[in-house]
Amino acid sequence: MTVFNSKNLKDTEELGKRIAKSLKGNEVIAYFGGLGSGKTTLTRAIVNALGTDDNVSSPTFAIVNEYKSKFSVYHFDMYRVATWEDLYSTGFFDYLDTGVIIVEWSENIENALPDNTVRITVTMGDSESERIFEIEGLEI
Ligand SMILES: Nc1ncnc2c1ncn2[C@@H]1O[C@H](COP(=O)(O)OP(=O)(O)OP(=O)(O)O)[C@@H](O)[C@H]1O
Ligand SMILES: [Mg+2]
Repeated sequence: MTVFNSKNLKDTEELGKRIAKSLKGNEVIAYFGGLGSGKTTLTRAIVNALGTDDNVSSPTFAIVNEYKSKFSVYHFDMYRVATWEDLYSTGFFDYLDTGVIIVEWSENIENALPDNTVRITVTMGDSESERIFEIEGLEI
């Protein structure tokens, strides 16, 4: 596990670059961490580092954001997913192994995550702009 202490947005961008460099293109990246912790912000940093013209923003319920970059990236927000039926309707299973899948609110779909999922747990640091990212399942 890697613990990355981000003091500010610039550090989170740096982390995004490091993660992007380590990706092969078929990973599932699952975030655990509360509202406003920085999941979308880190996703933007990763996808920008992979090279894209697409705008990275928070997906709405049941709609996946797709970004064209070095890899196809599928960005989910599972905040409102409560049942297996909900999860199927997002298309999550159809996208497995077709690109990099990035999932916010993985807490809600934990049982459906593949064994080799990259897990990123985000917690707030001491100051307003500090975040702690714990990364498991990917060497960065
Ligand atoms: N070091 C930091 N790393 C990432 N974000 C930071 C940092 N410091 C401050 N922030 C701010 O924290 C906020 C994080 O918002 P973001 O939308 O990324 O959170 P989220 O985890 O995706 O929330 P949600 O659960 O609502 O989707 C942004 O306003 C961002 O500017
Ligand atoms: Mg978000």
